[in-house]
Amino acid sequence: MAHDRGPFKLSNPWPVIGWGVVAGALVVSVVLGFGVLSRFQQNAPTLDLWAAICRGLGITSDTAPATQPQPALNTPTRIAWTPSTLEQIASGDAERGAFIAMNCVACHGQRGVSGSDVYPTLAGMSPAVIYKQLDDFRTGKRPWGVMGGVAKALSDQDSADVAAYFASQPNGLPPVDGYRVPEPGRSLRETNPAKRLAFAGDPARGIPPCAACHGQGGYKIGAPALQQQRPDYIEAELQFFAQGVRANDIFGQMRNIAKQLTPDEMHALALFYSESGGPQASIR
Ligand code: HEC
Ligand code: HEC
Repeated sequence: MAHDRGPFKLSNPWPVIGWGVVAGALVVSVVLGFGVLSRFQQNAPTLDLWAAICRGLGITSDTAPATQPQPALNTPTRIAWTPSTLEQIASGDAERGAFIAMNCVACHGQRGVSGSDVYPTLAGMSPAVIYKQLDDFRTGKRPWGVMGGVAKALSDQDSADVAAYFASQPNGLPPVDGYRVPEPGRSLRETNPAKRLAFAGDPARGIPPCAACHGQGGYKIGAPALQQQRPDYIEAELQFFAQGVRANDIFGQMRNIAKQLTPDEMHALALFYSESGGPQASIR
């Protein structure tokens, strides 16, 4: 009789209930642990079931550092002054460029000497400048409808060739070679504001002298000659840089300067460089 009432009697339901409860608890904890709790993350999207199970087991790849949101890459230009770029520019064939230039002279003037304030003079411009600007127009880094279309029709070698052609044309811009000449007015006491900015800059506003990069004092590769350039064009470009409409200058060096200039200063600088021939007058 005692045996009949023992714990192992087949009709005794308690062992089954006991095991059932244990198994149930196990299932609930597996579902909770792998399927629910490991799905939700504090600052990231909810995981799908398989990823959640893996994560619960500790075999996920999400042990890597959290990825930071990347700001869109916004480079001012595609051009870097690498030896291969400089070699390609130097390889420009001016004779071949003369044929390409037939597509340009309607706007930029015969042999690149502009007769209009809208179009910049290209004659005598450094080939590196022409090459870079053409690439910037082509890639949309310097937005200007017509020039974008013109530049898209040119290959890199075409650009080098046409750059060599215009660079070799006379009666345009003087070479920007950093040739130093003694020039009165290279001091901060100079009264003509344009001349003061050109040769001494304005340290209080962080403006370096224009001549430090644009020639007749120093030269920075890619900085165009300003002497003899069309005054309205110079002024317009300074405004474009100041507004950020033109933003293809490496390191923002022209945007930073132009933002500091007043409209009157822009006007005065444009006249100074184009009309007086700027410092060039004292060289020739
Ligand atoms: C339909 C007229 C037009 C034609 C054709 C044209 N251009 Fe231009 N180009 C312009 C204008 C306008 C600008 C000035 C854009 C601005 O104000 O930013 C310009 C600017 C440029 C500049 C930048 C100069 C600088 O000082 O930064 C270069 C380089 C240039 N053009 C080269 C060429 C070449 C090379 C061709 C021929 C293959 C050509 N252009 C054909 C209208 C033209
Ligand atoms: C730190 C060097 C530097 C200084 C200083 C500097 N520039 Fe520039 N400037 C450049 C470079 C480089 C470019 C060409 C930007 C590009 O790649 O499009 C440029 C472009 C320009 C252009 C556009 C010309 C064209 O043909 O498209 C104008 C106008 C200009 N600068 C005016 C000035 C004036 C005015 C000053 C003085 C107040 C000045 N810059 C000072 C480096 C300089």
